Amino acid sequence: MTSTVSFLDGNFAPVTEEVTAVDLEVTGSLPPELEGRLVRIGPNPKAPPDPATYHWFTGDGMVHGVRLCGGRAEWYRNRWVRGDDVVNTHVIGIDGRTFAAVEAGSRPVELTDELETIGSCAFDGTLDGGFSAHTHQDPATGDLHAVTYHWAWDHIRHVVVGPDARVRRELQIPVPGGPMVHDCAITESYVVLLDLPVTFSMDAAAQGARLPYRWDPEHPPRVGLLPLDGPADDVVWFEAPSCYVFHTLNAYESRAATGDQVVIDLVRHPRMFATRFNGPDEGTTTLERWTLDLGSGVLKTEVLDERSQEFPRIDERRTGRPHRYGYGAAFGRGVEHGPAIKHDLAAGTGELHDYGPGRVTLEPLFVPRSASAAEDDGWVMSYVYDATTDRSDVVILDAQDFGGEPVATIHLPVRVPFGFHGSWLPDA
Ligand SMILES: [Fe+2]
Repeated sequence: MTSTVSFLDGNFAPVTEEVTAVDLEVTGSLPPELEGRLVRIGPNPKAPPDPATYHWFTGDGMVHGVRLCGGRAEWYRNRWVRGDDVVNTHVIGIDGRTFAAVEAGSRPVELTDELETIGSCAFDGTLDGGFSAHTHQDPATGDLHAVTYHWAWDHIRHVVVGPDARVRRELQIPVPGGPMVHDCAITESYVVLLDLPVTFSMDAAAQGARLPYRWDPEHPPRVGLLPLDGPADDVVWFEAPSCYVFHTLNAYESRAATGDQVVIDLVRHPRMFATRFNGPDEGTTTLERWTLDLGSGVLKTEVLDERSQEFPRIDERRTGRPHRYGYGAAFGRGVEHGPAIKHDLAAGTGELHDYGPGRVTLEPLFVPRSASAAEDDGWVMSYVYDATTDRSDVVILDAQDFGGEPVATIHLPVRVPFGFHGSWLPDA
């Protein structure tokens, strides 16, 4: 991103209508295996906000979805997420149900299959505090792991939601200073806790900031490893670089000559909310590998890719296990041009898919061809904004022919604003 992002202009601007469109035009051929919904969400203020005080993270949530069925693009829908709180950061599926989610104290909002709001949901009364936008599903158990926070808490929480959409653990971990904890990661044995120097600012709150979190050089950066079922006393903390991390790509355990290690791949921002307060806009990012050595207690960093990027995703069958491939949205030539990137971390290469002039991908997702397919045997799907037409497409790539022509392009009658995250929700 550039230093001139306003978060209200161009394709950051909100759309003004809820739209239902059916039998969408498709270029190419939709894989018949893809039966389900590609959903995503982002900020879309209902009323024009004051540009002087607007923060991108605080706009009313709007969810967008395309349903694929029988080789057809059956519908596109966009709907505001209704309710008292702003819920705008992720859309996930649990037990066949659809939830919009956000961090920092609010509960998820359950949606219908057609994206209408059902209402605020505490997972059948099992969730005590708020939730997180980011969950990581352990492929061994089906449990979803999240780390939650709230400005008034003296702790963060490890929340585990079972595959039945009920909370089975909500463990408090003492953490001072009120850090913003956007994401976590899991391995086969641990949940990775990110305690980095963006913290709740009473001064910013007193000044009326919509998002009162600021860069805090006095807050010691650290990463913790909590056993998935262990008590808070068992957390092992590692000193971390001074930086901010919104998103992990994945984490896993490895064994070195020196002993056990935990490897975390993540997108590193040099700092956050230090000089610019309307959105994440503090310089270029890097994809990094942090290796935590449990024997020595030392965290080492390695740059995997210097190209600025965000929204890292893996084949989620590899969650918590060693992964070879990763996907993300690359920046670098401004917000009017944005390719997708496929990392081959074994080969040390990163391949781009350029969607063409004026075309910018939003978060790309990997969907396997089948449950038993190889790690990169499947499709990479994303919403792509076209500045030349001011409309969006859903573009489906063959992950093993990443730079090649798309398998299919679904043409939407509207644009989908830049936003945050989404999911492929296959039919049950
Ligand atoms: Fe996020």
